[in-house]
Amino acid sequence: MAEYSIGPTGEKFQLPGKEDYAKEFARLEERVKSERSLEREIVVVMGVGFVGAVMAAVIADARDKEGKPTKFVIGMQRPSPRSFWKIPVLNRGLSPVSAEDPEVGLMINRCVNEKKTLVATYTYDALKLADVVVVDVQCDYLKESLGDVRQGRADMRALEESFEVIAERIGPETLVLIETTVAPGTTEQIAYPIMKKMFKKRGIESDPLLAHSFERVMPGRNYVASIRDFWRVCSGVNDEARQRVVTFLKEVLNTEKFPLTVLDRPIESETAKIVENSFRAAILAFLDEWSLFAERNGVDLIKVINAIKVRPTHSNIIFPGPGIGGYCLPKDGGLGQWAYRHIHGFEDDIFKITPLAININDTRSLHVAQLTRDGLRNMGRPIASAEILVLGASYREDVGDTRYSGSELIVRRLTEMGAELRVHDPYVLHWWEFEKQDEYPSDSHSLKRFFRGQERLKDLRVEQDLKKALDGTDAVIFAVRHQAYLNLDPAEVVRMAGGPITVVDCFGILDDGRIRRYFELGCEVKGLGRGHVKRIKDQVRAKTRTDD
Ligand SMILES: NC(=O)c1ccc[n+]([C@@H]2O[C@H](COP(=O)([O-])OP(=O)(O)OC[C@H]3O[C@@H](n4cnc5c(N)ncnc54)[C@H](O)[C@@H]3O)[C@@H](O)[C@H]2O)c1
Repeated sequence: MAEYSIGPTGEKFQLPGKEDYAKEFARLEERVKSERSLEREIVVVMGVGFVGAVMAAVIADARDKEGKPTKFVIGMQRPSPRSFWKIPVLNRGLSPVSAEDPEVGLMINRCVNEKKTLVATYTYDALKLADVVVVDVQCDYLKESLGDVRQGRADMRALEESFEVIAERIGPETLVLIETTVAPGTTEQIAYPIMKKMFKKRGIESDPLLAHSFERVMPGRNYVASIRDFWRVCSGVNDEARQRVVTFLKEVLNTEKFPLTVLDRPIESETAKIVENSFRAAILAFLDEWSLFAERNGVDLIKVINAIKVRPTHSNIIFPGPGIGGYCLPKDGGLGQWAYRHIHGFEDDIFKITPLAININDTRSLHVAQLTRDGLRNMGRPIASAEILVLGASYREDVGDTRYSGSELIVRRLTEMGAELRVHDPYVLHWWEFEKQDEYPSDSHSLKRFFRGQERLKDLRVEQDLKKALDGTDAVIFAVRHQAYLNLDPAEVVRMAGGPITVVDCFGILDDGRIRRYFELGCEVKGLGRGHVKRIKDQVRAKTRTDD
């Protein structure tokens, strides 16, 4: 029976059968022959997800001083039912990731349809044609408990499989650049031995040319620039690998303006990534306790942060929002802690701040459910059976990535408390974490297992029409700073809802004028870190009494 992969728009793509592979490889071989005659380097990007798809296009867009393309890129993606659709979509010149940055779609279309420097495929044999392989597959960290990252492990399956598949097929001179965020030590102590063994089996005496350079990509409004026009750190297992990776990155990235940092060993570049993200997770987690302090003492943490930011030494202090989702920050510190024991063999427990920060971030959003409950209670409405709209499913503004978003836990907790949930997000067509919660993020690791009464969430659909989403709702939770939510007029929101509602601001989205207006319209307002709303409420109520 034919198997299918369904894309985000609902289009069905038949997975390739055994007989398709030889034909697909012949097509690529033919194409590569003519690309080589144009003196283009052949680059295979393995894994065309959020990072790989855009990185593949950045490489395919590279040109020499005369403006001639220097690379031909094959985006290679395994044909799993979950991901195969990305291949035909890319081959049409469309982006498999949705984002606010118009450059993503334009660049992919330009490279596929005009410059013809980018194609996508499902056959691993594409690796046989590569001068350079860029690895952008995932390396997950599987948590076994909610709020305790220590109970978890790195899931090395996809990555280890990739190293084997690569070493079975590449030539001895092929540079393998690992961009995946890995447990520090992976390049030298996991990838190198796997590949060396396979090389030996194939009679190749030389060392695999392995390099590491992590991605700092920020999906969103500056998606492309965050890859191409940004500083990179890199390293190689030996001098040759190091030189090759430096040359390659200089050819594809804007290293003149954003110089490379070259480190001695891959473990240093791997550690840089983990420390960088653990630092960010820690400064976000640290504000969680001050957020509660603010709520309980009439303080607006948003204004406090803006006041502190003026000081140049503190300009990167950031408000944490409803939990810190995304693929990276919730897991990267876990990879470091796991590596210390399971790659490097230490028994003692040196990590205190890194796991604590992740644990705080992983559970911060649960507090939103309490605020919603309290807001509804103040309006004399029980949370059970209340209709609640969550605005924003993704983990950050202006992207369609829902991985580990704070919104997921808000929905799960409020469902457990008996509420009826709806969701709106302009960038997300399907929220697979719910629609396919028996498989997402894997069959054993849905966050549903930490909550009761989650079965009906399979029917949760993302509404694209804000008016429909608001109609008849009792509460609205502003969860993500999507552009579409920043300037909503309170009177319009209340009109669309059909009457006064509870409004919960998780991300400093409402200014004081709007908060005041909601109160004047008979609404209740709550907010993470926004203790001053009570003061505005009292002022509005006092004024109403005087006016009476
Ligand atoms: N998303 C971000 O914002 C971000 C930022 C910086 C770094 N990173 C890191 O980049 C890496 C990739 O992240 P992502 O967000 O692109 O993940 P992703 O899940 O969107 O993409 C990974 C892709 O690799 C494919 N894949 C898995 N195994 C494969 C195999 N054997 N052969 C071919 N393809 C295979 C998957 O099907 C998927 O499409 C991770 O290490 C992540 O931590 C991500």
